[in-house]
Formats: sequence, C-alpha cells, structure tokens
Amino acid sequence: MNTKVVLTGIKPTGTPHLGNYVGALKPLVAMSKENKTFVFIADLHALNLIKKPEEIKKHTYEIAALLIALGLDLNNAILFRQSDIVQVYQLSTLLMNVTPKGLMNRAHSYKAAVEKNIAAGQDEDAGVNMGLYTYPILMAADILLYNTDEVPVGADQKQHVEFARDIAEYFNHTYGQVFKLPEPIIGEDTGIIPGLDGRKMSKSYDNVIPLFAPESELKKKIMRIITDSKLPEEPKDPDNSTIFQLYKQFATEKETEEFRQMFVNGGMGYGTAKTILFDKINGCLCKARAEYERLLSDTSEIDFILKDGAQKAGAVAANTFEKVHKAMIG
Ligand code: TRP
Repeated sequence: MNTKVVLTGIKPTGTPHLGNYVGALKPLVAMSKENKTFVFIADLHALNLIKKPEEIKKHTYEIAALLIALGLDLNNAILFRQSDIVQVYQLSTLLMNVTPKGLMNRAHSYKAAVEKNIAAGQDEDAGVNMGLYTYPILMAADILLYNTDEVPVGADQKQHVEFARDIAEYFNHTYGQVFKLPEPIIGEDTGIIPGLDGRKMSKSYDNVIPLFAPESELKKKIMRIITDSKLPEEPKDPDNSTIFQLYKQFATEKETEEFRQMFVNGGMGYGTAKTILFDKINGCLCKARAEYERLLSDTSEIDFILKDGAQKAGAVAANTFEKVHKAMIG
C-alpha cells in the first residue's frame, strides 16, 4: 500500500458511457486498490451548468453506484459527495484572495466560452456565470483540502490541477507552508474510444454506449455501430473498425489477436463481429450491472456509504481548514 494521497472528482452531469469507463473509471478503480484514495462526486462543479436539483441527484447516485459496482476498494478509498464538506465552500472563499484574476482569465474552459461568444458576435462574457469563471478555485479547494499528492484526470483537466498547484504556491509564499503541491497524473493514452458513428465517443456527438445500459439496449446499440460495406467474405481492416477498437478494451491480448485475424482473413460478416463484441462486453459488465441496478433500486446503502465517506473526508478537511484559517485570519 502506497502512502501517497490520490484524489479525483467526477462531475454528475450525465450517465457514464463506455468511453468514460475505459479512460477514467477502470484506471481509478485499479488505483484505489493500492493508494489512499479520495473520490468524490463533484456536484458543486455541476451547478454552473445544471439547474435542476433532481438531475444532479440522479447522476450523483448513478456515479456512486457505478464506482461501487465496478469494485472501488472502499477500504482504501473514501467516496463522498463534494457538497457534504462545508470546508470546501469556506476554503474556496479564502483562496479567492490569493488567486490572481489573470490566472482565471487564462483558464481553457473560460477562454473557450469567450471565444465562442466573440465568434457569435455577442458580448464576450455572455452566459458566463461566476461559477464557471471561478471553477478552478473551487477545484483547487477540493484538491488542497485533502493533502493530495496526485490527481488522476483526463488531459482536459490538467490545467486545472496546475492552477491548484499555482494557488497553493501563492498561498504558501504569502502565509507560510500549509499546502502540499499536487501533481496531475494524466493516464496513459488509451487512444480514442470510438462511438457508434466512429467519431470519439462523446455525449456531445450523441454516439455513446451507456456503460450499464440494460442488456437489450446494449445489444441494440452495438448492432447500430456504423461499418463500411464490405461483404462477409472480404478481408477487413481491424484498425479502422469501431467494433474491433471496442473489443480490444475488454478482451485479453490473446482474444484480441484472434479477433484481429478474423478481420484480416475475411469470412466474418460485420453482423457476426457485432455479436461477438456484444457477448464480450456483456460478459464483462453483466455482474457489475446487476450490482449497479441493485444499488440504485434502494439508495439507502449508497446514502450510508456517502455519509461515512463525508465523515472521514470531513475530518481531514477540517484539519487543513483550521491551519488555513489560522494562517490567514488567526
Ligand atoms: N473538473 C473535473 C471534471 O470536470 C471534476 C473535478 C472537480 C475534479 N474537482 C476535482 C477532478 C478535483 C479532480 C480533482 O472532470
């Protein structure tokens, strides 16, 4: 067991899909077996976008159920809801005072919103609320409260972790050493996980396969994967096939190699290939899906786990916050 502290947050903004599983969830569950891990559902970070509480609540339960069903190691991992920790709101307010406004101006997500507005001929801050603008400060509070060493995130979040480090340095410089400096850990490139239409699997392309879709829906989606029009007897190119790219995320090396040969040799139609893919994914996820459905059918077990997590995380947060308060206010 490592002594370093690993922390990450997942925003409850949508139902997780196979792309999220391969890129983030699977590695996170593996990591939780070896490190002291803090995993939280970043519901406060969803507020700048989602205005319906019932939606946030639904996705919060889904993510919690998903992580538990996938085998997050609850002996090493503290699973909690961000909004249950009062110190995160408090620390965020205090960190405002050591965060240069210019740093926020440089945030990729804010800049993207501004560029979009300018291109549309609108005021550059149209539709930008302060939740979006100060998003990196809240995220710094998340990271710094728990004495985090490493933050596993997707490449799109790397800048946010670097900002948390910058903010920690500004603070330590002004008030003395309180915060540890966190490192972003960008997972090895799993390549692009293609969606139903062959483009990157993403909610914004509406081409996703939900991770725990009921069996019949999973089958239907897989049968809808777009292929070229090669006949069954023709040799096919596995490297440009969505079916093959998805299969290899779930299969062993040997199985993958065998499937590759079936593409290259010809003789297998895409219908058959899709059935093989379905059987593979369904076989891998079927147990976890049953557990996921069980957890969601009565959320009291999740409530209990989140409450326990909030208690444990809250104790660490209170300790850090006290030091910060002392350093800044006395
Ligand atoms: N911003 C992250 C995302 O959109 C979620 C998040 C919030 C997070 N707080 C965090 C990730 C702290 C890592 C550490 O994916």
